[in-house]
Amino acid sequence: MKETIEKLLSEVEQLSAANAEEAEQHRIRLLGKKGVITALFDAFKTVGPEQKKEFGKILNELKNKASEKIEVLKSSTASTAASHSEGDLTRPGEPLPLGARHPLSLVRKEIDAIFTRLGFVIADGPEIEDDWHNFGALNFPENHPARDMQDTFFIETAERNIALRTHTSSVQVRMMENNKPPLRMIMPGRVYRNEAISARAHCFFHQVEGLYIDENVSFADLKQTLMYFAQEMFGEKTKIRLRPSYFPFTEPSAEMDVSCSLCAGEGCNVCKHSGWLEIMGCGMVDPAVLENCGIDSKKYSGFAFGMGVERIAQLKYQVKDLRLYSENDVRFLKQFTSVV
Ligand code: PHE
Repeated sequence: MKETIEKLLSEVEQLSAANAEEAEQHRIRLLGKKGVITALFDAFKTVGPEQKKEFGKILNELKNKASEKIEVLKSSTASTAASHSEGDLTRPGEPLPLGARHPLSLVRKEIDAIFTRLGFVIADGPEIEDDWHNFGALNFPENHPARDMQDTFFIETAERNIALRTHTSSVQVRMMENNKPPLRMIMPGRVYRNEAISARAHCFFHQVEGLYIDENVSFADLKQTLMYFAQEMFGEKTKIRLRPSYFPFTEPSAEMDVSCSLCAGEGCNVCKHSGWLEIMGCGMVDPAVLENCGIDSKKYSGFAFGMGVERIAQLKYQVKDLRLYSENDVRFLKQFTSVV
């Protein structure tokens, strides 16, 4: 028996297989139900007790070596098989599906880039604000309807003076309070208003507001800055138009329209046949607001403006329903894959 085992041991060491099939044949012949090694285990049962220890050891060794060897043969033949089936290794790889930037991020990045080219820096502030920064410092009278529950999400506190910011003008206040002029900054961010969700309104949206304060800042500076923005954003043929308006924190105040880039001012569905599209509010910072924030209104003047990122993206990409921006429908988002 010892001899048989030793013979098999050296045979196992020299085993080879050209493919997985051959390796399996070896396994069946040696370790299968009727295999030679299995048969030896049966024979082992009849060995006398004094020889059990010696035979048992080498027999186990043989079994282990055989299964190890067959495993090695199997895995090496399997990997050759796999590499054969891969075929031409010089073939170009499969394209990986690319994600897309969200249209609002694309537009916001573009707005940021246009204003940073003019020397504006980006300022940030909290989304949960107190009454002073969102309203009080900005000249909103105590009974102004914008403070009403209908427009503002209040946070439950005893004084009811904490709310989700309704515009990023609150960041302008913080910047004026904490910095000395000259100030030249934009404030991008998410804002909240208590509106019923529809194709045209949402309870949150994104704004980019801007502020420039220095000595001798005039309405002409405001107009030139916004014209530069409009032409960079919508094309160099774009015209702008300022219409008188009202905001508590600017005087004079205006709404800015741009000529419709789709019909070049001829009149179409998008501009409702007027040739113009309204894109932002703006004006000269009210001297009372400067004083509220500790800036000498005799020495300094400034302009401010604010636009909705959704609105700009809507015009740029013809998005007809505001809800698309926050529904995460991949069919919508995928369309922006090629835009960087
Ligand atoms: N804060 C205004 C709004 O949210 C926009 C604005 C900003 C208007 C600055 C004028 C000047 O509607």
